[in-house]
Amino acid sequence: MNTIYADHAATTYPRAQEVIDAMTAYMKEIGCSPGRGGYRRSLDAARLVYEARMLLAELFHVPQPEQVVFTPSVTYSLNLVLKGLLAEGDQVLISSMEHNAVVRPLTRLAAERGIQVVQLPCRPDGSLEPGQVKRALRANTRLVVLTHASNVTGTLLPVYEVGEILRGTDVFYCIDAAQTAGVEKVDFTDLHCDYLAFTGHKSLLGPPGIGGLCLSARAAEITKPLVEGGTGSRSEDEYQPPFLPDKFESGTQNVPGVAGLAAGVRLLQATGLKQVKAKKTALTAAFLAGLEKIPGITVYGTKDAGTSAGVVSLNMEGLDNGTLSLILEQAYGIMTRSGLHCAPLAHKTIGTFPEGTLRFSFGLTNTEEDIDAILAALQEVAKERN
Ligand SMILES: Cc1ncc(COP(=O)(O)O)c(C=O)c1O
Repeated sequence: MNTIYADHAATTYPRAQEVIDAMTAYMKEIGCSPGRGGYRRSLDAARLVYEARMLLAELFHVPQPEQVVFTPSVTYSLNLVLKGLLAEGDQVLISSMEHNAVVRPLTRLAAERGIQVVQLPCRPDGSLEPGQVKRALRANTRLVVLTHASNVTGTLLPVYEVGEILRGTDVFYCIDAAQTAGVEKVDFTDLHCDYLAFTGHKSLLGPPGIGGLCLSARAAEITKPLVEGGTGSRSEDEYQPPFLPDKFESGTQNVPGVAGLAAGVRLLQATGLKQVKAKKTALTAAFLAGLEKIPGITVYGTKDAGTSAGVVSLNMEGLDNGTLSLILEQAYGIMTRSGLHCAPLAHKTIGTFPEGTLRFSFGLTNTEEDIDAILAALQEVAKERN
């Protein structure tokens, strides 16, 4: 049976050969730690990491490459921001579409540090009216955190409009670009944000275990590191170096991950971000149009593929989404994700809590034939149910 992978919002698959080759090349031909020796292999590793930093700074329009810090994941980056910035009495504004990577650390901070967390309610399609942010600002508002796109519905949030609202204020602004980096316009400068958190293994086409955080100058200065230790710099000093990127990069780096991520970004640049976006939009539009013809299907979130990050959530009448996911894999070889997608808050917003939805998400390796095959499978399952 042929298989179709439709879970790119979870992670990209299959990995591009270029990414695998870059990781293998590092392991075979360099293999040593950056910044930990004066010999050629260590210098080669340092150059590899620096070039990757430059590539990401260029991709996200970050003024200096040092403002891009590598972390294991967007989850780590978001924890770094929340735990490194917030203090007793601070208020944080979040949207009601946030992932548990934001919600869980904040829940703990609310309990332990007395942080006030205010959820800005999104519409049932997951969209947010940007004026809500303005109206919710208080004297103690320290931070606004928004996901650029929901991982449940794909709905894009008005992150640029909110950036304009917060511009020039002393409120810090953090964007979770897990679902958009590598597809949508993610421009650190135009966003006027302080933190841009990203993950390498989704639309940036890299491997798991590598992500990052871009920081503004004021954020870099004020944010405390989550982890301290060896940086290969200022070893005589018992304090963590205060400068970027070392302040936030302790411990031996995941260089194969960085190499794979850089290869993924180069691949995206060679393809062209506009083409990537156009392909995702076309596949999503075709899927949404086809779904309309299948009886008993409810689609959640935006129905406009242009304002979606290529994620479609649905339920089929009379069949729970976990069973539907299983049928699709076992009978048709189609891989999807059912349930709550680590975002219960988003499901409460769109009215699908606690049962969740079945999520389809498309990537560069999907084809129109994949969409036709998925629609045909759903059509057949729906027919058998009636
Ligand atoms: C919006 C959003 N935030 C955070 C995450 C967490 O990503 P990671 O597991 O790579 O840290 C995801 C991925 O599922 C996501 O979609």
